[in-house]
Amino acid sequence: MGKIGKETWAPDSWRAKPILQQPVYRDQTALKSVETALAKQPPLVFAGEARNLLESLGKASKGEAFVLQGGDCAESFAEFSANKIRDTFQVILQMSVVLTYAGSVPVIKVGRMAGQFAKPRSSDTETQGGVTLPCYRGDNINGLDFTPEAREPDPQRMMMAYHQAAATLNLLRAFAHGGYADLHRVHGWNLGFVADSPLKERYEDMANRIEEALSFMAACGVTGETVPSIRETSFYTSHEALLLPYEQAMTRTDSLTGDWYDTSAHLLWIGARTHQEDHAQVEFLRGIKNPLGLKCSPDIGADQLLRLIDILNPDNIPGRLTLIARMGHDKVEKSLPPLLRAVKKEGRSVVWSCDPMHGNTVKSSSGYKTRRFDNILGEMKGFFAAHRTEGTHPGGVHFEMTGQNVTECVGGSQEIGDEDLSSRYHTACDPRLNASQSLELAFLIADELKALRKNSKSQPVAAAAAE
Ligand code: PEP
Ligand code: CO
Repeated sequence: MGKIGKETWAPDSWRAKPILQQPVYRDQTALKSVETALAKQPPLVFAGEARNLLESLGKASKGEAFVLQGGDCAESFAEFSANKIRDTFQVILQMSVVLTYAGSVPVIKVGRMAGQFAKPRSSDTETQGGVTLPCYRGDNINGLDFTPEAREPDPQRMMMAYHQAAATLNLLRAFAHGGYADLHRVHGWNLGFVADSPLKERYEDMANRIEEALSFMAACGVTGETVPSIRETSFYTSHEALLLPYEQAMTRTDSLTGDWYDTSAHLLWIGARTHQEDHAQVEFLRGIKNPLGLKCSPDIGADQLLRLIDILNPDNIPGRLTLIARMGHDKVEKSLPPLLRAVKKEGRSVVWSCDPMHGNTVKSSSGYKTRRFDNILGEMKGFFAAHRTEGTHPGGVHFEMTGQNVTECVGGSQEIGDEDLSSRYHTACDPRLNASQSLELAFLIADELKALRKNSKSQPVAAAAAE
């Protein structure tokens, strides 16, 4: 492996490494003072919570749990509202109950929420009408408006993002533990516009059966009083660890273990554009004890992936590393199996998750950046098929989605067409699935999980019959 990942780590050791996708802050004194102020703020999450997530993800690595990670591509200051947070939380709950009911596996819920601001971009600049300005990098860095003032990176935005993340997390914790997530409310989670969609009957039917099961269990003495997971849920947060001055400032030692945790979120991931093994993001993340994610695009080879696993999870701890494959519907069949094989052959414990969004972005005829529901589903199916062939566990999914009735991705049972995109296109970055499309996908993934469960049950029988 050479020396990479063997040198002494410190929260600032990333500063000596090459770094991509960063803003250029003109006022370094202002940057320093924000970093100092952020380092004094309370942590957003606790080390013990990150350890609970690690333990759950360890189960997902063995096929005993399934990860549902979802939320905005980029949270924004303008779109911040309690109702929007509630609606996204609610759709994640709905999807999760569909997956749990059909797949009979616990679902680990992880939001791309409460800190998902910074964005990697394909170009450092943007040109409009002959004018060239710095690109938009996310609301914690600069503004989306195409003016020199908005596009100037402002370190104060990190502090604003911290406060928005704190408020978001506060609400998420209340929803998760304050009664909203009680399974008895399963009917009430259906959002108005989804209740009008062709999914209505399927969801209502499942909700009725869950209600019946809850009544039966209550008669047997199993209630929310005796089993807390009936009346509340665990909900975790995650984002791409791109803007390292922020992440470093949020990194603290855990008083119980003395280990370093990045307290800005439970799980942090490395994006597809910043996974170079000798670069700053990999250096920073290898030293914190939070569970980590690593996006895997088709250009990552098996050798590079194994080297990254060595650096990020040298002790092969189950749950430490989630590999988020984002290959594209037309590449998954060819690009994913060699990675699954190499990781399995080397005995590396990982959670394999599928992000069917980022390899399937196209420009629609109307000029909007979009994704086709059928391609998203196609990549999902390719992901499950590859795991079936290789004998590995499909451990989770990763979506860009919202609880709002947006028109950003085309297709699905609402039959959103290219011509509909302009009506409710609100994303600050990539196109998201709306609530109806998200729920529809959950039912389709549940079918895959059901088939998987059937197969794993029937395999010993088939083997016995062959003897
Ligand atoms: C993202 O998840 O929003 C993202 C930019 O993904 P990737 O790094 O896989 O392109
Ligand atoms: Co995105």
